[in-house]
Formats: sequence, C-alpha cells, structure tokens
Amino acid sequence: MTVSSAPGKVYLFGEHAVVYGEPAVPCAIERRATVTVDARTDDHIRVEARDLSLDGFTVEYAGDTDYRPDVDVPEGLVDAAVGYIDAAVEQARDAADAPDAGFDITVESEIPLGAGLGSSAAVVVAGIDAATRELGVELDPESLAEHAYRAEFDVQDGQASRADTFCSAMGGAVRVEGDDCRRIDAPNLPFVVGFDGGAGDTGELVAGVRSLREEYDFAADTVESIGDIVRAGESLLADADPDAEPTDDLLVELGRLMDFDHGLLEALGVSSRTLDNMVWAARDAGAHGAKLTGAGGGGCIVALDETPETRTALRYTAECRDAFRAELDREGVRVEASGTDATPAGSTNTEAE
Ligand code: PMV
Repeated sequence: MTVSSAPGKVYLFGEHAVVYGEPAVPCAIERRATVTVDARTDDHIRVEARDLSLDGFTVEYAGDTDYRPDVDVPEGLVDAAVGYIDAAVEQARDAADAPDAGFDITVESEIPLGAGLGSSAAVVVAGIDAATRELGVELDPESLAEHAYRAEFDVQDGQASRADTFCSAMGGAVRVEGDDCRRIDAPNLPFVVGFDGGAGDTGELVAGVRSLREEYDFAADTVESIGDIVRAGESLLADADPDAEPTDDLLVELGRLMDFDHGLLEALGVSSRTLDNMVWAARDAGAHGAKLTGAGGGGCIVALDETPETRTALRYTAECRDAFRAELDREGVRVEASGTDATPAGSTNTEAE
C-alpha cells in the first residue's frame, strides 16, 4: 500500500490569461487530496471516493475507460473521480512500463471539487505518485508534474495549462508561462478562501473568454493586461524576503493587483454574482484585496488578510458556504505512508484552522 498526498492551490494572479501564453502565479495551499493505492494481482481498477463534497461511492471496472458506473451521484462527480483517476492510472502504467497493472484506489480530499482550488490536479498528482511507487518507480516532482499534466490534458480535451499540476507537484508559489514552469520565492501570504458551494464549468468559461478575445480587440487587450498584472505582482514577490512575514506595504500592493485582476476577469465574463458578493464582503471587512480563483463562474474567491476579519465576514455572507484560512504549502506531493503497515489515507489530513 502506498499513500501519497498533494496540495490544492489558489491563483494569486493570472488564471485564464495563462491559457494564451501570459504568465500566472498559482500558490499551493494547505488543503490536500490523499490517494491510497494498493497494487492488485489482476488488471482491474477499483475506486473508492470519499469526502468529495458529496456522498462517496465505490466502483470497480476493467478495460473500457469510457465506461461510467451506474451510481446515484451527480455525473460530474463520477466523471471527476473516475475520469481523472483513469487518466492518472494510464500515466502511472506508462511511467512504470506496466500496461496491465491493476489497483485498488481510495481518494480522500479536503479540496472542494471544480471550485478553483485545483482538486483534480491534486488527485491526479497524488494518484500517479502513489501508483508508480506501488510499481517500484519513483518519479521526481518535475516528471510527476509532466505526467499529471498529460492526464489533465487528456481528460480536459486539451483545455489545460500546466499551472495546477505543476503547482500541486512542486508546492509553494510557482510561475507558469506556456511550457516554462518554475518555483518562485514568496513569503507566507495570509490567504483567506471563501467558497460559495458551487462550481464553474472550466471548459465553457475558457471557451467564453476565447470567443470574446477573438471578437474584440479590447478583450484581447484585457487578457494582456492580466499578464501585466502578473508581471507587476512577480516583481513585488521577487523583492520580498521569503522567510520573513510579508510587510504591510507588500500586502497592500499585492491586494491592489488582486482587485485589479478580479475586475478584468469580471469584464471577461468569468465572475458571478456570488463570487462578486464574496469579493466585496472581503474588501468591506478590510482585506488588502480579493479576487476569484481558478476558472470562475462559481466556486472560490481568495483574499489577503492577516486578521480574522475577512474570514468572519465571509462566514456571515449569505452566498458563502465555507470560509477558511489557507496557509501557503511549501511542500508539494509527499508520501504519507508506504508498505504493508501503512496507515489509512486521510489520517494525516488537518483542517485549516
Ligand atoms: O478552476 P481551475 O482550478 O481548474 O483553474 C482553471 C484555470 C484556467 O486558467 C481558467 C484554465 C487553465 O487550465 O489554466
């Protein structure tokens, strides 16, 4: 048995624009997906999903990856669990050169699904890591990120940047521009996340921005302006001491850029009333800045506030289902347990605050 976990992430800046070659800065957060993998003697895959926002389920299948089990949970949830896990299994088989390997897989996640926190990337990264280790192969984080990217690329029909998977594999703050992915230094920023209980359709939202960009020069300019915001944010981070608490000036300036970024994402049509209401609740509570994170349309916002005020305000905001502090997680994928005496997945999960 091998148990691996990988973190979710927030976008400090740059979602959507990253699809068109602009840079983005996602940051790993201390909310993890944990995947337990047991190698089988046959080529079957058995998947048990727990805590994936809704009731869990168990399915067993073999061969045809188009097969979807007949279970009483929303199709999106089944697709998310089975589709991403199928793709992760394919990548693990490929990396270990073991095309017929079968696995029992249990997924547990503290990351809401499809809500802009990189839940699928965390499951795929942790799944490939645990499955390859079960087959006696240890991938370095960069190769793991590459395999995880290919898995997401397959499931999302090519609509995936490397941002989520690279960030989840490496941990910390990262910079992604096309194929160029690297870790960057950043102090521990005081992220607060608000979650509206919903999810956006990433494919539809990306397609919406693409067509606006094709139709209007000013929409293309808006995407480029997001790139300018990212570059401004990056140079602020580069000047900061990564080992010290962030200064007030840094938080104020990063917050201003986050507000600007949210405004441009809103203009590109990827925000929603609930996301905007949470953003405004955070700003009214004194957050340095707030923006949606990820594809948008619903899901999560991220705010910067070192005080408890934003989290409290969000908890009293009608549109907000959950609000929590999310520390920067400098560790990416990690092995939680391995061997026959491995403790069950999830035993290391910790609630943020
Ligand atoms: O919602 P998420 O966490 O899947 O993020 C999507 C980010 C986009 O930039 C909109 C798409 C991408 O693949 O980068």
